[in-house]
Order: sequence, then structure tokens, then C-alpha cells
Amino acid sequence: MKDYIDKITHCMSVAELEKVRVEIFGKKGILASGFAKLKELDGDEKKEFAANLNKMRDELNECIESKKSKLLKAEILTKMQKDAVDVTLFNEPVASGALHPVMDVMDRIIEYFVSQNFSLETGPLIEDDFHNFEALNLPKYHPARDMQDTFYLNDNRLLRTHTSPVQIRKMLSTQPPIRMIAPGTVFRRDFDLTHTPMFHQVEGLVVEPSDNVSFANLKSMLEGFLKHMFGDVKVRFRPSFFPFTEPSAEVDISCIFCHGEGCRVCKHTTWLEVLGCGVVDPNVFSAVGYKNVSGYAFGLGVERFAMLLHRVPDLRSLFEGDLRLLEQFR
Ligand code: PHE
Repeated sequence: MKDYIDKITHCMSVAELEKVRVEIFGKKGILASGFAKLKELDGDEKKEFAANLNKMRDELNECIESKKSKLLKAEILTKMQKDAVDVTLFNEPVASGALHPVMDVMDRIIEYFVSQNFSLETGPLIEDDFHNFEALNLPKYHPARDMQDTFYLNDNRLLRTHTSPVQIRKMLSTQPPIRMIAPGTVFRRDFDLTHTPMFHQVEGLVVEPSDNVSFANLKSMLEGFLKHMFGDVKVRFRPSFFPFTEPSAEVDISCIFCHGEGCRVCKHTTWLEVLGCGVVDPNVFSAVGYKNVSGYAFGLGVERFAMLLHRVPDLRSLFEGDLRLLEQFR
């Protein structure tokens, strides 16, 4: 009996204890053989032996039960300690993605115009001469058609050099009023510090079935937009030329880097050129069969905006996909 109490107390696990329990209480266990012996005894001897056996059974049982509950508690405790999570432990940071700065600025531009009730239009990247040039009043001899600037396909189609063909597609498929922007990719054969062969533009077009739309409307609309994007800047309209607008202007904002001191970014002019615009040329309206309408259009380079807003000095770095650069825009 003492031996078994010892065995029980020395058990290290519930499984081990179970083995000992079977040794004692099992069919071939010591108690079973004890009770078997009873048959051979008589009278007082039998009584005493039975009483002892019963006592022994109860004591061993109690001993096992209390040991079992201790072991269970200990086992749960070790499991809990083993599974514990140290929430203060330093871990390798998980890399998370982010919008490319160009797409981020594109989204901000789109959001502004959508808030001003402009609809969002798209067009094909592979265009034809009519939509990209002809209908936009770009005569055959215009330098923009030069092989230098345009990527041509073998079948005379081309990669659109600007988003302006979307204006044409929209006007050919609907009647005014039109109030649209067309964001998208454009392509030119150009590659240096400020030019990449693929870049992004946002085109804008407003057309009314009356002669109500004037340069003044265009001015105030663009001033609102540029102040929204760049904050409290001065906006300047400089006479310029585009075949598809007349009059045309290039739009400058006061330099957001030097605030009038003169710096490298503004080439000491204190102005930064940000977009082109104008009143839609009557020839464009004739090309799409519009009569008695008026409108204005503008076009901007998204990379240019991103470079200014994020202070990226070399346009090409926006296309290299270098994570060390891109991670700074998260
Ligand atoms: N399409 C012109 C360009 O790519 C920009 C522009 C659009 C100018 C609309 C005026 C009006 O340079």
C-alpha cells in the first residue's frame, strides 16, 4: 500500500498516473486480486481482510483523485505559459503597399473635378490620326506630328500623344452640355530629366449649347482648382498657342519652393508652369459637327503636379519603381 501511495505521488503526468490507476483498480490490478483472495477466507479473518481492502481502495482512490487534479492544474499552467504571446515583443515590420505618388496625385485631381460635377471619361491608348490630330485642328504639317514625338504603329495608328482625343470621342458621341475630364496615359518619343516616353495627363472639357462659355469661366474654374491643389498661390495666365484652342494660355503658379525669391526649380522666374488651356477653337467644333456652342478645354501633366507637390527633382525617378523612393510616400 505504501509503495502505491509513493508511486502515485511520484507521477509526473496525468498519463503516467492513469497507468498506476490501472495497476491498482484494473481488472488485473492489485485490488482485484485482493478481492479474489477473499473467497479463500472465512469468518472474522474474512471480515477484517475485506474491511482493510475497502479502506485501502478508498484511500488509494482519494490519493489518485487529488494527485490527478494537481497534475491537471500543472499541465494547464505549463500549456498557458508555453502558448503565451508577448505583445510587447518587437517584430519585423510587415511591408504594406501604398499608392504610387503619381496615382495619388491623379486621384486628388480627379476627386476635385468630380466634386465640381465633371464626368469621368476614358478613351483608347491606341488612337488614329483623326482623333489625335486632325479633328483637333492639327494640320498635316504641324511639328507635333513629327516622327520625333509620336510613336506610330505599322498600320498608321499611333499611341495617343495627349488626352485631347477623348474630347473628340466625347463630342462625337453626345450633344452638349458637356462637362468632363479624361485622365489617362499618353506617349511621346522623349526621354530626359523632365520627359518620359509614357506619362499621365488629365484633360478637361466644358461645352455649352450657347455662346455663354468664356475665357473668364475657364480662368475662375482653374484658379479654384490650382488653389485647391497647391494652397494659397498666385495664378498667372500667359498667352500661348494650341491648335485646338483660341485664345490659348499656359498657366503658371507662383513658385511654391522659393515664394518669390527665385530658385532652381522655377529657374529664377518665380513662376512654375502647370497646365495648358484655352477656349475651344471653332474648327474643333466643326470637326465634330457642333453648331452654336461654346466651350473651354485644359490639359495638365500629372507627373509635373506630383513632382511639384512631392518635391521630386528628377521625373525619371517616378518611373524606376525604386522602393527606397516610393516608401517615402506611404
Ligand atoms: N493637349 C495639350 C498638350 O498635350 C494640352 C491642352 C489640352 C492644351 C487642352 C489646351 C487645351 O500639351
